[in-house]
Parts: sequence; C-alpha cells; structure tokens
Amino acid sequence: MIQINDKQFELFLTKEQIQDKISKVAAQLNDDYADKSVLVIVILNGSFMFASDLIKQLKFDNEVSFVKLQSYNDFSSLGNVLELIGLNTDVEGKDVVVIDDIVDTGITINSMLHKLHKKNVGSVNVCSLLFKPDAFKGDEAPKYVGFSIPNKFVVGYGMDYNQKGRSLTEIYKLKD
Ligand code: IMP
Ligand code: MG
Repeated sequence: MIQINDKQFELFLTKEQIQDKISKVAAQLNDDYADKSVLVIVILNGSFMFASDLIKQLKFDNEVSFVKLQSYNDFSSLGNVLELIGLNTDVEGKDVVVIDDIVDTGITINSMLHKLHKKNVGSVNVCSLLFKPDAFKGDEAPKYVGFSIPNKFVVGYGMDYNQKGRSLTEIYKLKD
C-alpha cells in the first residue's frame, strides 16, 4: 500500500506483469507491421514509460514523434482536449501507431484520431497499455491493448495522481 497526497493506493500490476504484457504487445505490432515504415506518435505525459519500454522492442522501420495533450484533472476527464505540444511531423499517407498509457473515456484518443484523419493519414491504430471498457464512450476500442481494467483510478508507470506517482515501476489502484 502507498499513500499519495490524501489517497491510498494498492498494488494492482507488478513490474513483471507489465513487462511480460509489453513483450506480447510488441510481438503483435512486429507481426502486423513487419514490412512497413511506421510513424509512432506518443501521447505525453502519461505514456512516456510505456512508450520507452515498448519502442525498444519494435523491429520494423519507424520514426517516433510526440504530442502533449491534456484532458484530465484529478479523477474525471474534462471533456475537452488541450494540445500543449502539437505534432510537427507530416502524417499524410503514413502508417501511424498512436501510443497512449490508458484509454478511459476515449475523449483524448478520439480528438487525436480526428486530427490525424483530417490530415489524411494513410492508416492509424491505437496501442494503449490500459483500457477501461466501462468508461469508454468512443466507437472503436484500441486495437492493441495491454490490460482491460475495471473503472478504477490507477497510478504509476508514467501515470499520475495530481502529477505524483509517475516514477513508480508498478501500477497501483485507488483503494476502495
Ligand atoms: P480519456 O480522455 O478519458 O480517455 O483519458 C485521457 C487521459 O487521462 C489518459 O491518457 C491518461 O493520461 C489520463 N487518465 C485516464 N484514466 C486515468 C487513471 O486512472 N489514472 C491516471 N491517469 C488517467
Ligand atoms: Mg495519457
């Protein structure tokens, strides 16, 4: 059990579980994109650890770019997405994989997908370490998902509670 500010969190996914799953997701991507040249777009901040561990295992030709989006405060999504750092790469006709830490309501990823389609991306798939199906309001679940999880707030492995907890190597969930 750990304490961050006013909240208690309990261990949910261990380092080993996370790393095993990342190898499986990387293997899927390596199969599906074997002969492709791929633009990997990482959504900051929460995805930095996942992206780092995943991208090291990618075997296909790739470019990596970053965007910084914000749609989240405390425990609830705001419903609108701020672009704090935008995409400075041309995406037209490219095969894109978007990496996110967690797809919750899907508002953030939806806004990203909308922008990419407007810029005539060739193809795009989402790869997210965590997915909360019960909170998801979008139409299409991410194609590559590490763990589908209950609708509980989580922290660690890049993900924060009020900017704290990102450096944890395990993932913790809010204690009931
Ligand atoms: P969405 O727009 O509701 O899908 O969520 C967008 C972002 O909010 C995610 O990419 C995360 O960075 C953050 N987020 C969502 N759920 C959690 C959580 O349980 N813990 C920490 N961050 C979260
Ligand atoms: Mg995120």
